[in-house]
Amino acid sequence: MCGIVGVIGSTSTTDILLTGLKRLEYRGYDSAGLYVNDQSGHDYLVKTVGKISQLEAALTSDVQGTVGIAHTRWATHGQPSVANAHPQFSDSKRFYLVHNGVLNNYHQLRSDYLSDVDFASQTDTEVIVQLVAHFVEHDDMSTFAAFQKTLQLLDGSYAILLVDQEQPDQIFVGKNKSPLLIGIGANFNLVSSDALATYDQTEDYLELHDQEMAVVRQDDVKIYNLDGQLQQREMTQITIDHSAVSKGSYPTFMLKEIDEQPVVMRRIGQEYFDDHRQAIIDPELLNALSHTDRVYFVAAGTSYHASLVGKRLFESYTKIPTEVGVASEFGYHWPILSEKPFFIFLSQSGETADSRQVLVEAKRRHLPVLVITNSANSTLAREANYTLLLHAGPEIAVASTKAYTAQIAVEATLAKALGEKLGIKAAQNFDLLTQLGLAANGMETLVSEKETWSQLAENYLSGINDAFYIGRGVDYDVSLEAALKLKEISYVHTEGFAAGELKHGTIALIEPGIPVIAFITEKSTAAHTRGNVQEVVARGAKVLVIANQDCQEVQDQIILPTLATELMPLLTGVCGQLLAYYATLQRGLNVDQPRNLAKSVTVE
Ligand code: AGP
Ligand code: GLU
Repeated sequence: MCGIVGVIGSTSTTDILLTGLKRLEYRGYDSAGLYVNDQSGHDYLVKTVGKISQLEAALTSDVQGTVGIAHTRWATHGQPSVANAHPQFSDSKRFYLVHNGVLNNYHQLRSDYLSDVDFASQTDTEVIVQLVAHFVEHDDMSTFAAFQKTLQLLDGSYAILLVDQEQPDQIFVGKNKSPLLIGIGANFNLVSSDALATYDQTEDYLELHDQEMAVVRQDDVKIYNLDGQLQQREMTQITIDHSAVSKGSYPTFMLKEIDEQPVVMRRIGQEYFDDHRQAIIDPELLNALSHTDRVYFVAAGTSYHASLVGKRLFESYTKIPTEVGVASEFGYHWPILSEKPFFIFLSQSGETADSRQVLVEAKRRHLPVLVITNSANSTLAREANYTLLLHAGPEIAVASTKAYTAQIAVEATLAKALGEKLGIKAAQNFDLLTQLGLAANGMETLVSEKETWSQLAENYLSGINDAFYIGRGVDYDVSLEAALKLKEISYVHTEGFAAGELKHGTIALIEPGIPVIAFITEKSTAAHTRGNVQEVVARGAKVLVIANQDCQEVQDQIILPTLATELMPLLTGVCGQLLAYYATLQRGLNVDQPRNLAKSVTVE
């Protein structure tokens, strides 16, 4: 999703805006722009398509000011173009605005209020700035009143910054469902989508809640609800470790984050276990969970795949029936819930709109909600009843890696602690801390054999357009994740398939040379999966078998240590990450920022 940065009261406004946008690049975007005003009658609007480096190259030295707003766009309405890039501006060129989110009623608003206005873009966003201008220039409202009325009319998600050229000593801010923070600097103030953009300027932030607006001046911030009532807000400290958000000596963030996984496993062991090797989970959370008759995991993308493993962990170690829902489906097709449901949301960013809309409804129904996230100050973390952190450190690459394995480790920890509370023998006998140590060691071996993975990618994935991952049980779960990894960064059309399901249709796609990667780590189904492997080999597939020691056979290419069945994705998941990474490098593609994708999908 897009990135937003605003600055007021600094003579380094342009630099802070550009630095902030660069720090938000990982969120994914297709165009960028900024508006600065020196509060002495000079202002500048610069917008470009493509990377921020192109915006930077378009800035002449005179583009300076003491108030400014900047934006990286991830297009939802109107293709990537200079005209559709933000800041969008009013017909009168008095008002300049940036927006993250999607408006559901922009057509209606345009026909109700703006039928006589010439629009410069195809975006939904432009309706907002034209509306403010309409209420000021047509209905003679103050900018504050016009902004307030406009926000009251909007239906949809938004994080908005607006500058009025005629009163450039303030930034008008509006928020609903999209992330936005107000940073309190030394003699200047900031606004951004994420503290990552401004962490070197301040650690002091004010969080805006949904359906709130603010007026940010150089030395003053006032927050209002949409009825215009002043709101009090405590300062929040957000500290970001600089080394965690830089590549250091790594060529890409994704490789750095793949390599960090052994450390993350050990860190989770330290954070969640005491000196007596007992899992430490909030007793109130455990108590609430111990009363549920059914757990509902809800997530998107990689987090959904981690939730599938979470289901197996919960049913193995707590014996509580567990369901998993794709957030964007669950949100519009709620199942018939059990008597005492408990919702668990997995979200690395804690900002995914699809997941959040389900959380909001679960809260409306007064259902208990836990969020397992990597982002302590995120929207989902703020709104949940309970939060468990991944302690994985910032994950910058769009393709999620260390968050996936961290999610599984934290799910396992929660399942063990809950199972022990419920007196489940399997949980009592589950030496998870040892397993996490074994997983860390196994990961270290995998990431130390980069040449092997590069060679395997070369041998199996070069020059192909289609690929399959297959497995049964937890090996099917990880096949879905490995397929997502490969397709989202190498653009190879890849499917993760239940091995036993292939013969019911999809095997028709198997042709000579098609790569099929089989995960075989579950003894109870290994023989059947090997039978499925033979079925595709018989039709010319090029098969790579990734097995563990318990299931290995002599011809298998990769043999992994054996962990508890439900924890094998901690290792097989890393195999899928490494294959995707090298297949992408060998295609000369951008590993960290694949096309069309965003790190945090804050639109539904
Ligand atoms: C995974 O590699 C993708 N970046 C994407 O599927 C991601 O997992 C999904 O958008 C969910 O994000 P979240 O975990 O931040 O909610
Ligand atoms: N919906 C707006 C547009 O398409 C904003 C998209 C974004 O969040 O970047 O311009």
